[in-house]
Amino acid sequence: MSSSRRRYARYSFVPTFFFFLLPIDPLAASLRIMQKTVASPGRGILAMDESNATCGKRLASIGLENTEANRQAYRTLLVTAPGLGQYISGAILFEETLYQSAVDGRKIVDILAEQGIVPGIKVDKGLVPLAGSNNESWCQGLDGLAAREAAYYQAGARFAKWRTVVSIPNGPSELAVKEAAWGLARYAAISQDNGLVPIVEPEILLDGEHGIERTFEVAQKVWAETFYAMAENNVMFEGILLKPSMVTPGAESKDKATPEQVAEYTLKLLHRRIPPSVPGIMFLSGGQSEVEATQNLNAMNQGANPWHVSFSYARALQNTCLKTWGGAPENVKAAQDALLLRAKANSLAQLGKYTSDGETAEAKEGMFVKNYSY
Ligand code: 13P
Repeated sequence: MSSSRRRYARYSFVPTFFFFLLPIDPLAASLRIMQKTVASPGRGILAMDESNATCGKRLASIGLENTEANRQAYRTLLVTAPGLGQYISGAILFEETLYQSAVDGRKIVDILAEQGIVPGIKVDKGLVPLAGSNNESWCQGLDGLAAREAAYYQAGARFAKWRTVVSIPNGPSELAVKEAAWGLARYAAISQDNGLVPIVEPEILLDGEHGIERTFEVAQKVWAETFYAMAENNVMFEGILLKPSMVTPGAESKDKATPEQVAEYTLKLLHRRIPPSVPGIMFLSGGQSEVEATQNLNAMNQGANPWHVSFSYARALQNTCLKTWGGAPENVKAAQDALLLRAKANSLAQLGKYTSDGETAEAKEGMFVKNYSY
């Protein structure tokens, strides 16, 4: 175990009041920030860590070129939305944004700090074909990860994200599941050694015609492997966050599930596989419509859960906001209002108090894209 993790384990029982007497430990500090933040009721994470290539696809959808200036303008719009920190506790950034300034010259990380939002960083290097599998993929990024993470910590990041995927129609093969789990576990251990709280994200893709039972079966397998690999790598479970997909039927299935059914299956999965020491479960939206993602989260928060059950959405927070902006400076305020509307709706859903009254037809439109790559 690294010195950072050993020191954290030794002092984790010390009451907050006496913490100033202890040597500064980056992981302990990040964990305390994240535990306070993730546990704060009615807040979740804004995933704005689209790689430059993905950001390009988003900008193209509103007729804009993929230039640094356009990416900067869009990200400025997101982080300067007034009062965003009331609903958002953390923001996942792409490397460019961690070092980027807003349009007015202020550092984006400083604006986030003013909003009370903790910056996080996407550290994986994306998906590539997994040789020897059934057309499945694996996630790159372990080489040089420790050095990159040490630099990200210096730049202000306090948590990290690694997203790998599992495809149900393509198998999933034993090989692909083991590879996904092992990569996540190595990443989580390296992140904790470098003072970053790892978000562990094995996304089970929505693609496929299968029913909800099949998703449940695959998710059980994936989470079992992931926790086994994390235990083998001495990852501290009280120092991670999870970013799972919700358990739903495949996007091309003839069956549709109600929010109550999604909540029932997803909570059953979490209870079977996730120890209560894990502080937060921050769901991805994965191509669900904005309203669906909010309704499902709300249904999961109708009773007490051992973990903070919240959101870490990209598309389900940003879709209407991006379209409303359309690249026009005069639309910035309306676009920020659209972001705040979604952030507030999900905040209410985290508290189990959301109702879909007044939601627009647009917000109910699904965003599933076959073979979507992030
Ligand atoms: P979506 O909510 O769009 O699925 O994105 C999740 C994600 O992993 C981005 O960090």
